[in-house]
Amino acid sequence: MLTENPDQLRERLAADLIRARERTKLLTAVDDTELLHQHSPLMSPLVWDLAHIGNQEELWLLRDVAGRDPLLPETVDQLYDAFQHPRSTRPSLPLLEAVPSRRYVDEVRGKVLDVLERIPLHGRPLLENGFAFGMIVQHEQQHDETMLATHQLRAGEALLTAPPAPAAETLLPQEVLIPGGRFVMGTDIEPWALDNERPAHAVEVPSFFIDATPVTNADYLAFVEAGGYEDPRWWHPDGWKHVRGAGLFAPQFWTREGKSWHRRVFGRTEPLRPQQAVVHVCWYEADAYARWAGRRLPTEAEWEKAARFDPESGRSRRYPWGDDDPTPDHANLGQRHLEPADVGAYPAGRSALGVHQLIGDVWEWTSSEFAGYPGFRAWPYREYSEVFFGGGYRVLRGGSFGTDPSALRSTFRNWDHPIRRQIFSGFRTARSATPEEAHV
Ligand code: AVJ
Ligand code: FE
Repeated sequence: MLTENPDQLRERLAADLIRARERTKLLTAVDDTELLHQHSPLMSPLVWDLAHIGNQEELWLLRDVAGRDPLLPETVDQLYDAFQHPRSTRPSLPLLEAVPSRRYVDEVRGKVLDVLERIPLHGRPLLENGFAFGMIVQHEQQHDETMLATHQLRAGEALLTAPPAPAAETLLPQEVLIPGGRFVMGTDIEPWALDNERPAHAVEVPSFFIDATPVTNADYLAFVEAGGYEDPRWWHPDGWKHVRGAGLFAPQFWTREGKSWHRRVFGRTEPLRPQQAVVHVCWYEADAYARWAGRRLPTEAEWEKAARFDPESGRSRRYPWGDDDPTPDHANLGQRHLEPADVGAYPAGRSALGVHQLIGDVWEWTSSEFAGYPGFRAWPYREYSEVFFGGGYRVLRGGSFGTDPSALRSTFRNWDHPIRRQIFSGFRTARSATPEEAHV
């Protein structure tokens, strides 16, 4: 990837743009009423995501990079500015209808592919290694994951289908020791890394144990059935208030019929798959489970060390399995399956120290609040990351079955409010090693 010539880079950027658009088309291939409907107050109508994808692409690649004039009256920009209108208010805006939205994104894309053929991919920081195009690919893929979450929230029969995620019956160790010491967190060299992943910096991480796999439905069910949701001992005080106030009793989309539990997955109700990673839990639920289990959530630095640290060389890898880009053998990514896999299903994706499924399946909550690394510099715009620092958001790592590989690295940082669970969020737990354990 770093040895590409400019023609190869252009070809890859075009292919990534086209692949993102194929997914966007699949996720918006619904009738106009569905496209304009708000399926949950937490989400935009799909038609907003669609035109917002096109608008960001126009703003960055046509108007900024190529210096073009706006394609639509400039009043349109503010409709698709996420900071001017919270999600809940978007359906009441004079949004572009279905047909003009589709026409707009197609027109932008046609012109962007022309620009990509001609423009030099160097000379301006924004264009170095094709960054502006990579940023727009990632932006579209991020909204594709958001639109997938909207599909999960919508009522009614299934509109999306995919083959089931792989099963597994492997016996794995419960936890893995990550030896204490310095490791390099973040990156200076990943060409598409976003501002909050930079700069690379050494952190001292004491020895700790981390779960070899994400917490499963069976594990989590044990907490539910032990009365975990009725016992304030396990909960962060704000979490306890939230659980009581919102009447939570299990992960989102779980239903109980007598003694058996089911899960609604993209419009179908299915029995719980016991060995599948649990998904649709909020940070407070993850935190409470960990406390009940006598453990805690990993910090963000611990998570990244578990994912990247190579004890042989002492360096940080690009991915748990090494420096190669993800393949379907490594991880459950890219909406190939519309659910997490069973734990143990991706042995080829394990880390140097033997931790499984850090990438893909479910976003993993960490104990850390979202903040800038030492030396952080907002780039190319403050509204991607910086405005969220210090806002009480918790960091999630590793991507989910809904995340595209082009929008994910082991350094990638996601964040959300601790009460949110409509995202594809799960977790694994950790504990500090005692001095005796640390010296084996
Ligand atoms: C990084 C997933 C938190 O969806 O709010 C999309 C990504 N930023 N458009 C989000 C994003 C601007 C962002 N997350
Ligand atoms: Fe956006």
